[in-house]
Amino acid sequence: MEKNKAPAAVQFKGVVKRYGKVVAVKKMDLDIEEGSLVTLLGPSGCGKTTLLRMVAGLEEPTEGEIFIKGKQVNDVPIHKRNLGIIFQNYALFPHKTIFDNVAFGLKYRNVPKGEIQEKVTRALEMVRLPGVEKRMPSQLSGGQQQRIAMARAIVIEPDVLLMDEPLSALDENLREEMRVELDNLQQLLGVTTIFVTHDQREALSMSDKVVVMKDGEKLQEGSPEEVYNESADHFVADFLGHSNFAQGVVMGQEGDWIRVKLDDGNEISADPSGDWTEGDRVEVVVRAQKLQIDLKSQQTPESGMNHFYGKIANRSYMGGEISYFVELENGTMLHVINLVITKSFRKGEEVLIQAAPAHCRLLPKP
Ligand SMILES: Nc1ncnc2c1ncn2[C@@H]1O[C@H](COP(=O)(O)OP(=O)(O)OP(=O)(O)O)[C@@H](O)[C@H]1O
Ligand SMILES: [Mg+2]
Repeated sequence: MEKNKAPAAVQFKGVVKRYGKVVAVKKMDLDIEEGSLVTLLGPSGCGKTTLLRMVAGLEEPTEGEIFIKGKQVNDVPIHKRNLGIIFQNYALFPHKTIFDNVAFGLKYRNVPKGEIQEKVTRALEMVRLPGVEKRMPSQLSGGQQQRIAMARAIVIEPDVLLMDEPLSALDENLREEMRVELDNLQQLLGVTTIFVTHDQREALSMSDKVVVMKDGEKLQEGSPEEVYNESADHFVADFLGHSNFAQGVVMGQEGDWIRVKLDDGNEISADPSGDWTEGDRVEVVVRAQKLQIDLKSQQTPESGMNHFYGKIANRSYMGGEISYFVELENGTMLHVINLVITKSFRKGEEVLIQAAPAHCRLLPKP
C-alpha cells in the first residue's frame, strides 16, 4: 500500500456485470484519481456504458464493489449519489425553459430560490451561454444544447461527472470545438470525470488517463502517450491508430537493439524494451506515421535504419496527410502515413521505406 495517498474518487474492485448469459463487464479493477479526466475507450459492445451506468447507480454490479470517494455505493440509490450525468440519450426536457432545465437538479435538492438563480447564471456563464434562460431547447443549436446539458450537469457541483459519448451527435468541426471546451471546463472545475467514447482521437486529446477496453475487459490503462506509444497489446496498438504488424523470432541483442528475423525473411532491429530471449516468437509493431518514405531512385538507406523496397499500391490524400499502401518485394503490404505532404508519390512508383529501430516495438505473439 502506498502511504498518504488520497482515496480514489471512483474505484472498481472486481466488478462484474452479467445480463443472463451475457458478460458485459468481466472483473474490472480500476482507480480513478480525484480531479482527473479518465476515458473509457473501446469498440461497440465492450462494456463502457455498463460501467458508467453502474457508477451512476442505474445498474447494480453482479459481483464486486464500487466506491465513490472511499465510500462503497453498491446499495446507494442514484439520487443519493452526487453525480453530474451527460448521456447521449439524456436529452434536455423539451417543454421546459433553459432555466428550468439547468435548475432541475437544484430544485430537486431543495436549494433556496435565490441561490438557484445565482447558480444557474454562473453555470450558463461557464458554458459561455449567458442570458439564454428564457429560451426553449428547440431555439438553440445542437452544440448549444449540449452546452446546456453540461451546465445542467455541473450546476449541482457533482463529485463525479459521467459522460457517455456526449459529442457523438455533433458534426466533426463542432465536436472538436466542444472537445476543447469540455476539456477546459473540466480543468477549471477540477471535477473528476469519466468520459466514454469509441473515438480514439477524442480519448487521446482530452484525457489524463485512457482505459482501453475490449469484450468487458481492461486491456491497458495509462496516459495518452503511454497507451499510444507503448501499446501493450495487439488490439490496443491497432485500435489506437494505424499500425503495421509482422511476426518473427528474436535472434538476440545487437548493440542497442534486438534483432528479429521476420517470417517473411527480412531481418530488422527493434526496440529492446521488454523481456526477450533468443527464440521467442514475437510480433513487431510500427505505426504508419513512423515510416519514412522516399523515391527509391532519389534516396539510399541511412545507416542503422531498417529499410524495405516496394511499390505504391494505393494512395489517398487526407488533407493534412497522405496515406499510402506500399507493396513490398515479398508481397507484404505496409501502411505508411506521410505528414509531409510536399513529398507526394504516385501509384506504381518505386519507393524506399525506412523505419528507425526505436519505432519498431515488440509484443508477445498473440
Ligand atoms: N440491459 C441489457 N440486457 C442484456 N444485455 C445487455 C444490456 N445492456 C448491455 N448489454 C450487453 O452488454 C454488452 C456491453 O454493452 P454496453 O452498452 O456496455 O457496450 P458499450 O461499450 O457501451 O457499446 P457502444 O459503444 O455500442 O455504446 C453488450 O454485449 C450488450 O449487448
Ligand atoms: Mg455505450
